[in-house]
This record gives sequence, C-alpha cells and structure tokens, in this order.
Amino acid sequence: MTDAAFQKCINPDCGAEYDCGQALFKCPACGELLDAQYNWDKIKVPSKLSQFAKRWASRDNRLDFSGVWRFRELLNFCQDKYKVTIGEGQTICEQNDAVAEYVDMRPGCLYLQYEGLNPSGSFKDNGMAAAFSHAMMIGAESCACASTGNTSAAVALYAHSCGLKCTVFIGSGRIAFGKLSQGMDYGAQTIQILGDFDDCMRQVQDVCTKLGLYLLNSVNPFRLEGQKTIMYRIIERLGWEVPDWIIVPGGNLGNSSAFGKAFFELKELGLIARIPRMAIINSTGADTLTDLVNNKKLLWNKGHVEQAIIDDYYADLTARDFSPHTCASAIEISRPVNLIKCLRAIDICDGVVRAVTDEEICDAKAIIGKYGLGCEPASAATVAGLKHLRTEGLIARDERVACVLTGHPLKDPNLTVNYHKEKQGQFSNPPVEAANDLDEIIKLMK
Ligand code: F0G
Repeated sequence: MTDAAFQKCINPDCGAEYDCGQALFKCPACGELLDAQYNWDKIKVPSKLSQFAKRWASRDNRLDFSGVWRFRELLNFCQDKYKVTIGEGQTICEQNDAVAEYVDMRPGCLYLQYEGLNPSGSFKDNGMAAAFSHAMMIGAESCACASTGNTSAAVALYAHSCGLKCTVFIGSGRIAFGKLSQGMDYGAQTIQILGDFDDCMRQVQDVCTKLGLYLLNSVNPFRLEGQKTIMYRIIERLGWEVPDWIIVPGGNLGNSSAFGKAFFELKELGLIARIPRMAIINSTGADTLTDLVNNKKLLWNKGHVEQAIIDDYYADLTARDFSPHTCASAIEISRPVNLIKCLRAIDICDGVVRAVTDEEICDAKAIIGKYGLGCEPASAATVAGLKHLRTEGLIARDERVACVLTGHPLKDPNLTVNYHKEKQGQFSNPPVEAANDLDEIIKLMK
C-alpha cells in the first residue's frame, strides 16, 4: 500500500474513506460505488505529461514497457513489487482518413485507438493490470467476474499469470466465440448461467461476498484506475494535447467513468488546459443510459442523483421481463453497474449519449475492417455514433475526434462471416465460389 492513496465513497452525503488494503467494491456505509483517490501532494507527479515519454528509452524495465504502469504516478496505489504486467497497453492510435470520410470529417481529424492490440485482445487488460496488482497487494487467492466475454478472457489470462484460482460467469448463449474460447484456454472455470449478463452480475457479487473471492468487474475501483491510461495514450499520440471529442461504447459504463476521472484529475493537476467532450454510444437494443439521460433527464447533480428515476426504470424493466438484445454482445447490458459514476463523467466532460442500431454498427465495423485494423461490433458503435453526431452537426467536420476501438476483430468471427457471406449489409464482401479450374478461377478474379 502507498500512503498516498485511499478509497472514497462517491456519494457526497456519505464520503466515507477506507484504506486500500481492503477489497470492498461498494461502500460498507451506504452501498454506493467507491473511487481510488490520491493525496497528490505525497506523489511526485511529473510537472508535464511529456515527461512520461522518457520511459520509452527504458523499455527493458517491465513497468516502463507497460502502457499502464508507464503512467504509474497517476495511479499510485501500490508499491512496485506488487505491480502485475504482461505487456498491456502497447496499443496504436491511428489517424484514419478513409473512416473520416465515411463519417464526413476532414482528413487528419479522426483517430482510432486500437485497444484490440492488448494481450487478451481488448481494453480490459489495462484494468486487469491495475486490479490484479491490488489483488496481489492484499494477498487474494481466488477471483471471479461476470462477463459478456472480454472481462472473462482478460481475468482468466491475468489470473493464470498471477497464480490465482479463477471462475468466470457468463450468460448462456450470449458470448462471442473468440471470447468463450479464451477463458477455457487460459484455464478458468466457466460457469454458464441460464440468464443474461445482468443476471450474472448480480450472482457474482453475491458469490464473491459469500466466498470471499476477489471481484474483477468494473465496480472494482482499482480496475478503472488502469483504464484511465487509455486516455493518457491518446493524449500522448496527439503530442500531449487533448482531442476535442472522445467517443466510447457504453456497456457497464466502466470506461466512460474512468475516462471522466482521468480528465478531471489531469485538469486538477494542471497537466491539461481543458477537458475534451465525451460521447457515449449505446446500442438501441441495450439503451438504458440513452433513455435515462436523454428522455428521463437523469443528471449527476453534484452527486445528488435522483435514485427514484433509476428505481422506477429498473422496476419497469423487471415488470416487462425485459432482456437487452444487440449483435454487439459486449454491450448487451440493461443495468449498468457504473451508471452513477458515468453520470459524473458526463458532467465532467460535457458529455452526450446516443444509441445506434445493429445495422449501423455492422456497417461501421465493415468500414473499420476495410480501411483500418478492424474491431469487434461493440467497438464499431463509436464510429456509427460519430456518424450520427456529424449528421446532427454536434461534432464539426474539423474537430479532432478519438474513437476508442475496444476489442479485436477476431473476438466475434461469426458475426463478421455472416455479415459478408450472407450479404447482410451494404459493405458485404462475400467469397466467390469457383470451379477447381485455372481458367474459371482467373475469369472470376476482378
Ligand atoms: N467494448 C467491448 C469490446 C467490451 O467488451 C465492453 C464491455 C464494452 C465495450 C463496454 O465497456 O462496460 O466499460 O461500458 N464488456 C464487459 C465484459 C461488460 O464483460 O467483457 P464498459
């Protein structure tokens, strides 16, 4: 433990504080989410963000090689000896003019942050490096998570590299094949619950409390500390300047919450001059955040969130026996656990929320695949959402925008094959059948 960090309840009427030597995951006093917080005056934070770049020269130091721990002063909750890394955060932020054209943006303005390049193929590894470090620090022996797939893949990978026993809970039939294969391959016990992600999330919290397991979902405040570094790397790519907009898919709302906190802290520390705006993109089949923010006018309101609006909304979902449905299975979530923290992030970043259809997601995904490094469906919601925001005129043609592409294209090969083979969208690129004959084959080639 460092004496610079502590855990704090985000509810301003409670504000209880706890040391970092405990695995809590909600405030024991009031039940609200917890943050990792820092006494910044006890930490030697570089006076300029550009000073972090020096660490590129010492990449043989395992912490400098990590795209998470390279920024360790900004998530200083444990000593170096506990820090876990398997090379996460070696990602690319690519300027992509072809995708920019698709969303009617000026060349040079659109950046794609490829988090699929992480060891387990998604952004989750940023969070796991931090959360598993906390788990090692407090001496955890067993861990668990609920997942739409990527969390389970990342947890399984980090658990086996740290020697922790690991159980992952997934909804039956709701997980993309690439992700399912990873959890099994990395040796986790997979428990498939007859239900959806929200059911799994409820069960895993009770299981972890009852059995004393270390919980790795994004209610874990240390996980979100690791995910802050995605923003640091985007800023790094832009010559240590912030973009005008960050666009992120919204599922359990851990990323958006972490990004808001990252920018708040950087501004507070005087390391950035302004905070970018953020757009959070749901799928129309799992649009709780969009509905609550845009239609029910739910606000952070300095931490005094109108809980009755949320309670009524969830009671209605239960009464209708509602289960979310989207081809972007990663964000097929209707009761996001970080909702309140996300409202705070929206407040910090002057954020907006939109929902896009499965068709829009699949078409955007095909464009990202054709002109970029590709991504999984949930990630493509960002580009589909950007297209909406350009049409609305909320984002200008020449603003600088960074879309966070959260997962690798091979996570969900079935969806990609079906889109192309079954000609499901305007950018389908189906295979052509050819007789086993040279002249015939040559005739078919364009
Ligand atoms: N994109 C991908 C590829 C994801 O796997 C997830 C979440 C999200 C976006 C949404 O991020 O929860 O921070 O809003 N996947 C979780 C999982 C829920 O279990 O793998 P969020």
